[in-house]
Amino acid sequence: MTPEEFRAAGHALIDWVADHRERIPSLPVAAQVGPGQIREALPRSAPETPEELAAVLRDLEEIIVPGITQTQHPAFFGWFPSNASLSSLLGDIASGGLAALGITWLSAPALTEVEQVVTEWLRELTGLDPAWRGAIQDTASTGTLVAMLAARERASDLSEHAGGLQSVERPLVVYSSEHAHSSVPKAVLLAGFGRDNLRYVEVDPVTYAMKADALEAAMAGDIAAGRRPAAVIAALGTTGTTAFDPVAQIVEIAARHGAWVHVDAAMAGSAMILPEMRHLFAGIDGADSIVWNPHKWLGTILDCSLLYVRDVDHLVACMSSTPSYLRSGADDDVVQYKDWGIPLGRRFRALKLWFHLRLEGVEASRVRLRRDLANAQWLAEVVAAQRDWRVLAPVDLQTVCLRHEPAGLTGEALDRHTLAWADALNASGRAFVSPSILDGRWMVRVSIGAEATERADVEVLWDLLREYAESPRA
Ligand SMILES: Cc1ncc(COP(=O)(O)O)c(C=O)c1O
Repeated sequence: MTPEEFRAAGHALIDWVADHRERIPSLPVAAQVGPGQIREALPRSAPETPEELAAVLRDLEEIIVPGITQTQHPAFFGWFPSNASLSSLLGDIASGGLAALGITWLSAPALTEVEQVVTEWLRELTGLDPAWRGAIQDTASTGTLVAMLAARERASDLSEHAGGLQSVERPLVVYSSEHAHSSVPKAVLLAGFGRDNLRYVEVDPVTYAMKADALEAAMAGDIAAGRRPAAVIAALGTTGTTAFDPVAQIVEIAARHGAWVHVDAAMAGSAMILPEMRHLFAGIDGADSIVWNPHKWLGTILDCSLLYVRDVDHLVACMSSTPSYLRSGADDDVVQYKDWGIPLGRRFRALKLWFHLRLEGVEASRVRLRRDLANAQWLAEVVAAQRDWRVLAPVDLQTVCLRHEPAGLTGEALDRHTLAWADALNASGRAFVSPSILDGRWMVRVSIGAEATERADVEVLWDLLREYAESPRA
């Protein structure tokens, strides 16, 4: 494709994207396909000769769109928000257009330095201490894995450079709340600690936040048994209920044992741009690493996750590899992001944040987040006031955990009722919510935060919740 051909095709594609975004509110929220349906609709082999763009766009429209759950829909209340502002999409397109190869500073100095600038902008905007240094990772899962590798190496005196974890005398133990996201045990396992050395610390039965005294007791038990506490992963904004672990206390307890503290604020981190929400993060500056995702609630399209660490030298000692062909005369004076994480080749992800922040301005994000927080409070109040409905967890953020509990329905019958109405609502395409298990029983999470979701959309959702739960379909 020549640049001239690209210009014409690109205009057509941008028009298609703009039209698509405009009509999202009229689409069903949930993907409308069954397993294998998309594969069946596509040819078995790649075309030998070029096709017209119009044919590709037609397939995009007719085959691909029905196969997407519309997370940008104003009635999307599932999982967590997956914002994808059009401003950040422009940055992503610019990134592809520049085709920068981010393997060293020299391969694309701008890629490195814009990333330094935007991670510093966001550090400042979120009120974090100037000692933090940030890098962009693809996802929080990767950020947490990197943090666990760094924690492992600190606790084992950089054992990777000698006998590795197998040479460590005392088993190294990691602690997290029993409500930690699935990426947490995954990172702990992949970092080689072993499932036997992962402790799920008990949570408070009302707030679902980690109990500091239970953490303390778990650590004492491990030390008495000859094991060594290596890391604690504090969740600020758990996936289930957006609970906030007491990070200030966790930092204090961990410090006594020299354990690394990693903060998983994948969803809630965006709220740090609101000064009035920072009390939920009190103590965070005492942690060793923090991960949070602008690609959830801040607006920036996937994939854009921020990992901040305090001790960059330690991270580099764990992660660096410098074959001769990557050497340059500037090495002593520049940041080499390849040494701050796992991949060598990195995309110019900073551009989507840079475009988003420049084209929208930070205040617009603050206004949007405050809108979502207020909408969640409104929903929690109307649910709590309604007979047979319950709000099941504190609403500290933008997610409301609720259940319809008709008189006489308990146990598995209640579970069947909850799943039936939530699945029917999702299948209708009129809204999308996430059934999830809390305290062993199914409930429904309503997670507010799509860019397009206004109060009126939350009011419609409340009507739908009542319609589907109170008059269940056969
Ligand atoms: C608390 C928490 N941590 C981590 C993740 C994983 O995020 P990612 O998809 O960026 O790996 C999620 C995803 O929802 C989450 O809620």
